[in-house]
Amino acid sequence: MGTSRVLIRYRIASMNDQISRLEAQALEDLSLVNSAEATEAFRIAYLGKKGKLTELFKLLGTVPPEEKKSVGAELNRVKVWLETSVETCRQKTSAKAATDETFDETLPGIRPPRGSIHLLQHTIREITGVFNRMGFQTVEGPEIETEFHNFTALNIPLDHPSRDAFDTFYTTRGQLLRSQTSTVQIRVMKDRKPPLKIIAPGRVYRPDTVDASHSFMFHQIEGLLVDEHVTFSDLKGVLHLFLRELFGSQTKIRFRPHFFPFTEPSVEIDIQWGKGWLEILGAGSVDPNVFKEVGYDVSNVRGFAFGLGVERIAMLRHGINDIRHFYENDLRFLRQFA
Ligand code: DAH
Repeated sequence: MGTSRVLIRYRIASMNDQISRLEAQALEDLSLVNSAEATEAFRIAYLGKKGKLTELFKLLGTVPPEEKKSVGAELNRVKVWLETSVETCRQKTSAKAATDETFDETLPGIRPPRGSIHLLQHTIREITGVFNRMGFQTVEGPEIETEFHNFTALNIPLDHPSRDAFDTFYTTRGQLLRSQTSTVQIRVMKDRKPPLKIIAPGRVYRPDTVDASHSFMFHQIEGLLVDEHVTFSDLKGVLHLFLRELFGSQTKIRFRPHFFPFTEPSVEIDIQWGKGWLEILGAGSVDPNVFKEVGYDVSNVRGFAFGLGVERIAMLRHGINDIRHFYENDLRFLRQFA
């Protein structure tokens, strides 16, 4: 009896011992599992028919009845742990396999969408480009302006009827959103002495209701040339050249008398379009009152100025029938001109 008790004790001790050794070994093996195949091999090695844990279960029969319960519980605890570990490994390795499968390094990369210059900006660059080549310098002025730059200095007094069409958005501090780029003429002349040759693109604002041909905001380009001897034929020569550069060397051009407060005489310039004429530019000789406002000596300076609408020109050249297309950011429209 004595001997068999010792033996049984030894067996139990040995079972617990084996269980903890198995656990330690399994933990180490698990850390090396990195694929679906390795997971399956691990499962078979521990839980398969001849697996390490299965073998220990088989020895349970040799454990004395009073110890069976605790040894059995230990074995079951390890079994549950192993099964859970196998399941976790399966999930991890199959997720990894899924990403591995969808990644094909031989496929071409995904091209990031490439931006391009907006048609209006492109048109501005083309137009200022023509003038730059004739020696005009591109300058810009602010969109938030004073009444002086937008009206008074341009010979548009407070009660002048032409203010109505221009009457614009005012800020609470008495400033306004400029309604014409002619403001830049004043800024440049106040800053510098003649000779001047400038071209000034930018946004302007009008109290217009939006429709196919009107917008509360659009783009203009202003030009100004000031020197000692400038005649009306200089104006004609420069603008002729410009229009033929832009619309083609055969373009027919017509000058019509007009009125602008800041030029005298003033003209509107049309180009032949199909059977009719289309107005493209406003222009004229700078009114001496404007020179006075900026402090120039009227007896010594002459100049001419002109202004045009960018949207109108872009619409004509590209057959665009609605000004709103420019501002809606619809890539189907914009890509046609990219
Ligand atoms: N500022 C005018 C407008 O918005 C355009 C214009 C006409 C500008 C004649 C000029 C000019 O410089 O000489 O309608």
